[in-house]
Amino acid sequence: MQGFMNWIDERFPLTKVWNEHLAEYYAPKNFNFWYYFGSLAMLVLVIQIISGIFLTMHYKPDEAMAFASVEYIMRDVPGGWFIRYMHSTGASAFFIVVYLHMFRGLIYGSYKGKRELVWLIGMTIYLALMAEAFMGYLLPWGQMSFWGAQVIINLFNTVPVVGAELSTWIRGDYVIADATLNRLFALHVAAVPLVLVALVFVHIVALHVVGSNNPDGVEIKKLKDDKGIPLDGIPFHPYYSVKDIVGVGVFLLVFFAIVFFAPEMGGYFLEHANFEPANSLKTPEHIAPVWYFTPFYTVLRAVTVSPFAGTAAMFLAIIFLFLLPWIDKNPIKSWRYRNTAHTINLLLFAAVFMVLGYLGVKPVTPELKELGTRMTEIYFIFFIVLWVHNTPSKAKYLMWFIILAGVIGLMDFIRYNPDATDDAQQIAWQWIFPIGYLALTLLLPMVKRFNDEKPVPERVTS
Ligand code: HEM
Repeated sequence: MQGFMNWIDERFPLTKVWNEHLAEYYAPKNFNFWYYFGSLAMLVLVIQIISGIFLTMHYKPDEAMAFASVEYIMRDVPGGWFIRYMHSTGASAFFIVVYLHMFRGLIYGSYKGKRELVWLIGMTIYLALMAEAFMGYLLPWGQMSFWGAQVIINLFNTVPVVGAELSTWIRGDYVIADATLNRLFALHVAAVPLVLVALVFVHIVALHVVGSNNPDGVEIKKLKDDKGIPLDGIPFHPYYSVKDIVGVGVFLLVFFAIVFFAPEMGGYFLEHANFEPANSLKTPEHIAPVWYFTPFYTVLRAVTVSPFAGTAAMFLAIIFLFLLPWIDKNPIKSWRYRNTAHTINLLLFAAVFMVLGYLGVKPVTPELKELGTRMTEIYFIFFIVLWVHNTPSKAKYLMWFIILAGVIGLMDFIRYNPDATDDAQQIAWQWIFPIGYLALTLLLPMVKRFNDEKPVPERVTS
């Protein structure tokens, strides 16, 4: 065996790569539950690529045959239903895992300490993932595929001056048609997966240059023994490879329980309207994107000043996430040692993101429409509050409370139209949400107990 390894090593640095990235890659010894999701995201990527290859063997990217070819996979191809449900469940699983992975980055400040690029590459992966999921959803050529694509591609129509040409260029036709299906198929099965795999590779390489962060936010490379090994580090392999296998086991149990027993997940993973073939003459009663896009869809619907403003707000919601390393410059990384107001801010942001997601799947009523506007306000204010929390100064908290509450009041004043009774009623009481949010994140830390930051230890704790 050693002889064989020597033969390889003289031609390819296999042992070197193995040691640098696994056996001698020293990771902090205090990784917890939140650190499962990076390796799980890699697992889901592999599941998607393999199940996707098998689907491609039977699927027909043709307007006249696409829907029937998916039915053929489900009914006639041996094990076809299993492959398809793995792929459709995998799409939702990917986003669940990636959202948890991103939230971990937020709570432990993993984008700090020279990890800005790891975060930026991660965000680019997230964008590519959204593009990949959107294109995949068109392929079954059901009602939701067709009308969902219609809504999303029409967003490009709102771009000033070149909008109409741009959306025609994307569709390859004046309407969503065979040409659209063909190009999105090519991008979905070849181009974007290649980009995703390349980005994940670069993500890991960049992470291994700076080293992993951890739940304490302590830089373990600062304290090393005389052999140059971090005092708080343990080799990734076997310690974390074994830990990750436990995560993989639990994940696969849940994943296959869904694949076998609830693949539609009540219409959230596979929407019911998509079991009907695409019909360009019949608009579904209620068009809603799949759950993982809905937070941004609500932002789009909430900004009604002009169609372009809605689209811009939606993109801005994502751009702000890209900018997190430059918004949150507080020197303390982990929420364990930041003040309580910061913890409240992060938890409220997660809750608001989920409410935005919930609203995106619901039909609009005056009450829910206003709630969407309020949650959108909080979504954007979150980034300002995060920035205000960079320095724990009470005067700054008060000043920003007054400025932000004033801006909300002014916007309400402009929006308030007593003739539109339903809307006016909602505006009149729902201001409580953004103002309550501001009170909890900016007024509460004026009380010392909620503003106290704790000393960050030298060494990792648990
Ligand atoms: C296909 C999607 C992705 C895969 C396969 C992936 C994979 C990984 C892996 C294996 C790690 C190291 C293990 C761990 O820390 O859990 C990691 C770390 C990291 N990832 Fe990702 N990732 C993905 C998407 C993202 C996204 C969307 C973001 C955020 C925008 C992101 C941000 C980070 C950060 C900041 C770290 C360092 C965490 C730390 O050291 O505390 N990743 N990723």
